[in-house]
Amino acid sequence: MRVALYQNNPVFGEVEKNVNSVLDAVRDETFDILVLPELFATGYQFTDRDEAAALADKTGEGYTYTTLKGLSAARDALIVYGFPELSGDKLFNSALAIEPGGQFYLYQKTHLFDTEKDIFDPGWTGFSVFTFRDVKIGLMICFDWRFPESARKLGLLGAQIICHPSNLVLPHCPDSMVVRALENNVFTITADRVGRENRAGGELEFIGKSRIIAPDGKVLGQLGTDEPGFLAVDIDPALADNKKVTPRNDLFDDRRPEFY
Ligand code: ACM
Repeated sequence: MRVALYQNNPVFGEVEKNVNSVLDAVRDETFDILVLPELFATGYQFTDRDEAAALADKTGEGYTYTTLKGLSAARDALIVYGFPELSGDKLFNSALAIEPGGQFYLYQKTHLFDTEKDIFDPGWTGFSVFTFRDVKIGLMICFDWRFPESARKLGLLGAQIICHPSNLVLPHCPDSMVVRALENNVFTITADRVGRENRAGGELEFIGKSRIIAPDGKVLGQLGTDEPGFLAVDIDPALADNKKVTPRNDLFDDRRPEFY
């Protein structure tokens, strides 16, 4: 299975331009799964909730969804991306995974970061796993990395690949994802962005370093800190199935939750 990510540098608020630039960038690439960053089409730093709501989509509607549904069908691939989700009077920082047949899976960010708490409601989906071509896939978004329970829950649910749309500003995530992969014996795909935003009281610099990591913690590929880019690797998802550390140690069976 060929898994891929695209690291972008969106122009804030220019949704169509940002979506189309991803389409252009992946036109000649091949992949079975493509992961895009958190809020990849809108930009990150909303000045207030109203501005975010104006750029948000209802799930299954809008230019971003329609275009990526078309990409999924045309390329026969799973497309995972982050977007601001309007649901009634709630606003979530969400990710959607769209299958070629049009079926989709929604995840709403559980752990909001810093000023996101002024903009978004904490998600209510919780963590779940779905199957794409016999491979079990889980979703988490950016700052969820800081809570090992996120990846652990997905691992316990059987995820073989964790797709992780991100807009990283803290330096520790790329290294921490090695540990998330290792402690759950799963593949991880962190699709980050690059560039800066200075819109809502303070400049943010996004660190790039998008990564695909194997269950043994090996970094299979990584992008740089400044430039957009595409990254793809061929993996065997079954490598995520054996949770043995030694013949007598199993990552999940040896847990002793009564002491946690
Ligand atoms: C983040 O969760 N976007 C830092």
